[in-house]
Order: sequence, then C-alpha cells, then structure tokens
Amino acid sequence: MKKPFVSYEQLKEITKTYSTPFHLYDEKGIRENARRLRAAFAWNKGYKEYFAVKATPNPSIINILREEGCGVDCSSLTELMLAERCSCRGDDIMFSSNATPAEEFRKARELDAQINLDDFTHIDFLEKVCGIPEKICCRYNPGGTFDIENQIMDRPGEAKYGMTKEQLIEAFRILKAKGVKEFGIHAFLASNVLSNYYYPALAGVLFETAVELKELTGAHIGFINLSGGIGIPYRPDEKENDIFAIGEGVRQKFEKILVPAGMGDVAIYTELGRYMLGPYGCLVSTAIHEKHIYKEYIGLDSCAVDLIRPAMYGAYHHVTVSGKEDAPCDHIYDITGSLCENNDKFAIDRKLPKIDVGDLIIIHDSGAHGYAMGYNYNGKLKSKELLLCEDGSVRMIRRAETPEDYFATLEF
Ligand SMILES: Cc1ncc(COP(=O)(O)O)c(C=O)c1O
Repeated sequence: MKKPFVSYEQLKEITKTYSTPFHLYDEKGIRENARRLRAAFAWNKGYKEYFAVKATPNPSIINILREEGCGVDCSSLTELMLAERCSCRGDDIMFSSNATPAEEFRKARELDAQINLDDFTHIDFLEKVCGIPEKICCRYNPGGTFDIENQIMDRPGEAKYGMTKEQLIEAFRILKAKGVKEFGIHAFLASNVLSNYYYPALAGVLFETAVELKELTGAHIGFINLSGGIGIPYRPDEKENDIFAIGEGVRQKFEKILVPAGMGDVAIYTELGRYMLGPYGCLVSTAIHEKHIYKEYIGLDSCAVDLIRPAMYGAYHHVTVSGKEDAPCDHIYDITGSLCENNDKFAIDRKLPKIDVGDLIIIHDSGAHGYAMGYNYNGKLKSKELLLCEDGSVRMIRRAETPEDYFATLEF
C-alpha cells in the first residue's frame, strides 16, 4: 500500500488557500532522506551529494538540501545561474553537461565550479573558450551493456555521454600536461535502478578505471562521482532500495580496489535527483469531469504539462483519491489531462475507488523530474509548487504561470 505523505484533512485545509493543481513537497521527508544518505556514506571522509538541480529546480528545495550538506549538480546556464542565486560557488557546484555551449563553460569557470568534461574534444573547446582549470573531472562511458548479476541494466554503448577508455587515458595525459593538478572521474550508466547492487557495480568499474588511470598517467585523482541513477519504487509492489546496503556495497569496493592502490583518500561524490526528491513530491489535482464512452474517464484540472512522465515514457505513477484511501478499488478508470494528445493520461485502466467530480486526486512521486520536465503545449500553463514545511505550515515556493508569462516571449 502506497500512502500519500499528506492527509485528506491537510489537503482540504491547503486547498482553502491554494487552488489545484499544484505540486506539493514534503520538507520533513526530504531532510530525513538526505540525512540517511549522508549516514550511509559517512565512512568516506570527503563524501558529498551534489543534488541534480534538473530534477527539481527550485531555490527553496536547493536551500533545504544545502542545509543538509549537499552541493548542486548543474547541467545548463540557467541551472548554474540558479545555483549562483542560492549562493553556491566553487566546490559546491558540479557542472555535468554535454554538447556544452561556450557561454555555459564560461559561466562555470566564473563560478569556479567543478567541470565534468563529457567529451575528449571538449578539452580544446574549453581551453579556447575560458582556459583549463587546475581541477577537472572526465566522464567515462565503458560502452557495451551494463550488467548486474547477468541482467542488462542499460546500454552505455548506445548513449551519447562520456569518453571511451582510450580517450579518457589520453584526456588525462593532455590535461595533466596543461596544468591540471587534481582529477575526478564520473559515469552514469543506468537510470532509476531498483537494485542495491547498481552503485557498488558502478563503483567497481570506476574504481578500477581510476587505479588504471593513476598507474598509466600518474594523475592525482581526488574524487569519483557515481552520478545519479538510484531508483525509487513508483509501483506499490516494488521494493525500496536500502541506502545503507548501497553505501556498504560501495565501501567494500573502495576497500578492495582503491585502498590497496594507495587511493584511500579519494572522495566519493553522488549527484542524485530522483532518489533525493521523487517520493517527497506529489501532484495534487481536482477531478473536474467524468466521461462515459467506451471506457470510463476522469478528467483532471492538471495535464501532462504538469507531469509528462506517463505520457513520455508510459511511466507508472501511483494515484490516490484523497479521503478514499480505504475504499475498495472497484472501478476502472483512465485518469486524463486536457491536452489534445491521447497520451495525456496519468493512468490507464487503473483500479480505483469510485471518483466523484470535486475529489482531490494525488499523483504520487512527482518530486523529481516532475514539474521540471513540464512544457507549454496547447498554451497550457504550469502549476504552482508548494512546500509542506516541517512544522505543518504550507508555503508557496513557485507561483503558477499566468497568460502574461506565456505571452512574454512573443512579438505581436
Ligand atoms: C549527469 C546527470 N547527473 C545526475 C542525474 C540525476 O539522475 P537521477 O535523477 O536519476 O538520480 C542526471 C539525470 O538525468 C544526469 O544526467
């Protein structure tokens, strides 16, 4: 049974002040989870989580995570600017981009951010645009498939990211000759993985590569960035990852591979998004229509503009009818938004309690890659974002878009 973090009574109260639809975030859940992650990696002296800003680019969320000791992982100019506005600088920022425009590298250098180079050719590009810093990270792509326990988790060989092993070695040599004093390596080999073995397996690959790089090039490797990818259970029958088992799995690889190579001082970094925020956000909407044709439809006041994952990936998001948590799921509905796109369905053939117009519908796990992936198709405007604070109060942390926002970029 998946339970929302917000009760019917709380939602009734919230909707007296704030109309639906809105994304709601759970400060308590976010903080407790961030603390668990830190505790799971406390064995590593330099450990730091760089929250993937792309998952939930909101200063209030970033500030909560900053208070919990996190830095930020940025992937674009505006994410870097957002980080700057949240007083992040230098080692608080990881810049993991790809096909990077010149002004983004310039901004990263201006902020003294740690740059994670996606490609071998970016060395020359970066040098021309703004010079090579003394500390730099390179992104590795081992190619082929990435398997855990004989199961294919993903296909790095098909991914546009990172450098081959040969390029990585050559990159280290060239960068060292250009004055780099400290190196990092990074890889992101699979996304939304529900397995405690993903990070340890990835760590194994990166740690062995780090030892090889040190031996071949003499480079000083200061950190290894395991990136994002830890999954969350979107479906009620899925099993949650155990972050302490993950931390311990990485520690064992560290002891086995890095320590004997004299690399026991390497800092472990992560740049998680989904794991940090996914379960601690939900999209709250009102059922505004019911439609009976060949199927039963419930139309919401939100749409794929607010949460595109179901339309884009066919992703499952659990749905709760607030106040009817214990009612029997004896109806089958398609839960839809209002876009002129037939894939604008939050749920298809979903067993739910009887829904009445006016019911509050909670779409779970929208906290990461939810609001952030929104767009403006059909001229639909993006919803507001609210924070359920630790003391139970609610704060608007982003207003809803207005027609003026939509028209602001147009010339008439
Ligand atoms: C470079 C990089 N780091 C971190 C993340 C965060 O991934 P996740 O939200 O799956 O943890 C992403 C997601 O796309 C990414 O591209």
